[in-house]
Amino acid sequence: MATDESRNVLLTGVSRGLGLETARGLLEAGWTVYGISRARSVGWSALERAHPERARFHAADLRDPAAAAEDLFASFVPYSVPLHGLVNNAAEAYDDLLTNLDLARLETMFATNVFSAMALSRLAIRNMLYHRTRGALVHVSSVSAHLGFKGLSLYAASKGALEAFSKNLAREWGERGIRSNCVVPGFMETEMSAGLTAEDRARIYRRTALKAATDCASVAAAIRFLLSDEAASVTGQALRVDAGA
Ligand SMILES: NC(=O)c1ccc[n+]([C@@H]2O[C@H](COP(=O)([O-])OP(=O)(O)OC[C@H]3O[C@@H](n4cnc5c(N)ncnc54)[C@H](OP(=O)(O)O)[C@@H]3O)[C@@H](O)[C@H]2O)c1
Repeated sequence: MATDESRNVLLTGVSRGLGLETARGLLEAGWTVYGISRARSVGWSALERAHPERARFHAADLRDPAAAAEDLFASFVPYSVPLHGLVNNAAEAYDDLLTNLDLARLETMFATNVFSAMALSRLAIRNMLYHRTRGALVHVSSVSAHLGFKGLSLYAASKGALEAFSKNLAREWGERGIRSNCVVPGFMETEMSAGLTAEDRARIYRRTALKAATDCASVAAAIRFLLSDEAASVTGQALRVDAGA
């Protein structure tokens, strides 16, 4: 089995939030991280300075999943790079009441949150088959797909699709040693949730067992676990890390 020191992972959404935290933890554990977001951020640039050999970056816009996936696998992680992991973390949240539905915005969100995850998983699995890597896919879902929140039906539907996709991939590729799991975070204090009022936050926290936001570092640790050999028997699962929501 490969050690973390010789492992390569493709991670989307590295510019901030959970993706940046996940990249930090994986780099500290010795992984080489092939990071994607639309632009390099100050936080990511600091990781590049700390890990110049193993923090690699490519700008990509996942709203065009087919073009982004083809480009990434042609020039950023070509077949000469054996992939051991893929983390589909990048996402956008289109929050609104259903009666205000704008189908074009919904299509864009599904392109980013679901279709890009499918297009990248397809090419990551092909890479893993080529190298006979017993690789791991981790998709970042949301507790909204399990609990239900007013105004989140559209976003939650994209995460429900991702969870169903992951569970079926686990069956499809398990016999080749490839695992697929989801992490299901609760409310994290990142840019995605910055629009919530203090009142909204207090209400969400009251509904958790821990009466707190979900810690990004805790979710990032769960992602690292699911990528690792310690999770060798874990596949087809949706692991909730949600402060007891
Ligand atoms: N925050 C929460 O409370 C919460 C709760 C449950 C689940 N989640 C899930 O956790 C994951 C991480 O969320 P977060 O809170 O860290 O969000 P965030 O702070 O908004 O970060 C989102 C990341 O995705 C990237 N991204 C967005 N659209 C992209 C596109 N079209 N192409 C390429 N990259 C794109 C962003 O990079 P650029 O904008 O630089 O391209 C950024 O790096 C997401 O899957 C989210 O749905 C979040």
